[in-house]
Amino acid sequence: MIDSLIIAELSKIAKQMVAPGKGILAADESMKTVGKRFASIELENTEDNRRAFREMLLTAPGESQYISGVILHDETIRQTTSSGKTFVEILQAAGILPGIKVDLGLIESGNEKLTTGLEGLDARLKEYVALGAKFCKWRSVVTIGEGMPTEENIRQNAKDLAAYALVCQQNSLVPMVEPEILLDGDHTLEQADAASEKVLTALFEELKSAGVALEGIILKTSMVLPGKDSAAKAAPEQVAEATLRVFKKVLPLELAGEAFLSGGQGDIEATQNLNAINQEKNLSWPLSFSFARALQDAATKAWMGKSENLEVAQNVFLHRAKMNSLASLGQYSAEMEQDFFREGAVTVSQD
Ligand code: G3H
Repeated sequence: MIDSLIIAELSKIAKQMVAPGKGILAADESMKTVGKRFASIELENTEDNRRAFREMLLTAPGESQYISGVILHDETIRQTTSSGKTFVEILQAAGILPGIKVDLGLIESGNEKLTTGLEGLDARLKEYVALGAKFCKWRSVVTIGEGMPTEENIRQNAKDLAAYALVCQQNSLVPMVEPEILLDGDHTLEQADAASEKVLTALFEELKSAGVALEGIILKTSMVLPGKDSAAKAAPEQVAEATLRVFKKVLPLELAGEAFLSGGQGDIEATQNLNAINQEKNLSWPLSFSFARALQDAATKAWMGKSENLEVAQNVFLHRAKMNSLASLGQYSAEMEQDFFREGAVTVSQD
C-alpha cells in the first residue's frame, strides 16, 4: 500500500502532466530508433548529434505553454546542453516535468512480445529520483494478428505493468503505464476495439490487485484505429467513437488521466483524431497526448542536423505542440495548419 501523503503528491504531479491544454513530449527513443530518424535526414548517429537533436526540441522557446513534461532517455537525463546546464535543469527552469523511460526494451515471447526491466528497477528509480525525474514510462506492446493477442500475453504484460507502477509509486514517481496496441497489420477497427478492451480490462484488474493508486498514474495507450495495412480507413469521428466506447466501459473514474501515443499515424492525422476525441464534453478524465513521432517528425526534417535551421525547426516543433494542445481541448481546426505555412515560418536550408 502506498502512503496517503505520497499518493497526494503523485496525484498532484499526474494532474500537472495532463493539465488543460498540455501534453507530453516523448523524447526517449533508443539509440537504434534515433539512428532510423537520423538516417532519414542523413545524419550520423553520434552522442553529440543526439544531444543537439534533443537540445533543439527541449529548448524551443515558450514550449511550456503546450508541454507539461518530457520523457527522457537514460543518456539524455545525464547530458549537459551547449549552455553548460543539464537537460533536467533546462526543463526545471521552464516549469516542465522531467520524466524517464525505465523499461529495458522488448523480448520475443512466441510471436508476441514482453517487456524487460523489472530486475533492479527499484535501484535504478532511486538514481533517477536523485537526477530529478518526476515520472516514468514503461512500454509494453500488443500485436493484433492470427490468434493474437493471446490471453497469456495480455495477462503477463498487465502484471508487469502493474509491478512496475507499484515500484514507481513506492519511489514517489508517477508511472506512465503504456500498453501500445500496434498499428502494424491489416486488422479492422472492430478488431482493434476488441483488443483494446481486453488489454485495458486486464491492465486495470492487475493495477488494482497490486495496490497501485490510480489517481497517481497516467495511462498512455493507443487510439482505437484500424491497422495501417487495412483497406478500410477510419474517419476521426469513427476513431473517437471507438476509443471513447472502450474508455467509458473500462477506465476507472479515479484514473488521473490518459495521454495517447501517436503510434505511426501521420502528424496531422494524430492531431485530427485527438481533436475528434475531445469533442466529447464532460469526460471523466483529461485525454491528452504523449507523442514522439507526431510531435518530432516535421521538426526533424526542418532541422536536418544544421545549426542554421535551429530556429525554423523549433518553430515547426512549437507549431505541432500548439496544434496538439488545441486538439486536447477540442479546439483545433485544419485551417490553423495553413495559417502557419502562410506566415512563412518554414524556409529550410538543406545545403
Ligand atoms: O512509447 C512510445 C512513444 O513514447 C510514443 O511514440 O508517438 O511515436 O508512437 P509515438
